[in-house]
Amino acid sequence: MNSDLALLAPAKPFQGHLPIQFQGVQLSFGKHSIFSGLNFEIAALGITAIMGPNGAGKSLVLRLLAGLLEPTEGHVSFGEQSRIPRDQIGFVFQRPVLLRRNVLDNLLHALGIAGVNPAERLSRANALLELGGMQHLAKSPARKLSGGEQQRLTLLRALAAKPGLLILDEPSASLDPQATSLIENIVLRASQCGVKVILVTHDQGQAARLADEVMFVHKGRVHAMQTTQDFLNTPASREAKAYLTGELLID
Ligand SMILES: Nc1ncnc2c1ncn2[C@@H]1O[C@H](COP(=O)(O)OP(=O)(O)OP(=O)(O)O)[C@@H](O)[C@H]1O
Ligand SMILES: [Mg+2]
Repeated sequence: MNSDLALLAPAKPFQGHLPIQFQGVQLSFGKHSIFSGLNFEIAALGITAIMGPNGAGKSLVLRLLAGLLEPTEGHVSFGEQSRIPRDQIGFVFQRPVLLRRNVLDNLLHALGIAGVNPAERLSRANALLELGGMQHLAKSPARKLSGGEQQRLTLLRALAAKPGLLILDEPSASLDPQATSLIENIVLRASQCGVKVILVTHDQGQAARLADEVMFVHKGRVHAMQTTQDFLNTPASREAKAYLTGELLID
């Protein structure tokens, strides 16, 4: 645990105990309105899962959270702050993009961008490789790794800057159970070190294993925000129930 803290505890304390808030958030692309007034709160601590069918708006919520997209109207706030510095956010995108370099160099590059002192970079990179069980792949070209290995490396790279907020867009989509479990273990350890985690998942088992609360999004609207247990047992909306039982039609 102590070594986890040294490697994973946020470099700067995250925004305290106040929730992350979306207030009247609207988002349009040209005439195409995606969100017409999102209002919700995400707990400042723990793990929050965002679930919902394809095209619901989950990835766009993550981009708004990270400040990669600005709302057309409305506000996203983090306690008393209106945005979080980019270096306090680790983002694992739905489609990972790794540098055309070996695994170790990908991590060293991320540590360099994070401003880690050159003398510390190699030991931090090795500790991250160990965390991900990837030491034996250190010299392999990153883009030649298997899908599961690439996902894991992307997660380690996102953790290189010791972020306070870790955002994961379907971090284990199409991974086998063992690769999924490796990713989940890292996410849980980061959370235990005080990192706020927000992840999108379609996997109810994953939500049950990881998340404290679930937000359910459908057609650009939030239909449920519940503790994970309540969401899975007694979902708060007809759409959420239909999604969980595989009956939700996507039009
Ligand atoms: N740049 C854009 N311009 C126009 N429409 C967009 C843009 N980005 C996303 N959309 C649309 O917004 C909607 C929500 O997209 P989003 O990527 O958030 O879905 P999602 O819930 O993450 O789905 P999935 O489960 O398939 O990843 C989709 O209908 C998508 O086509
Ligand atoms: Mg998505």
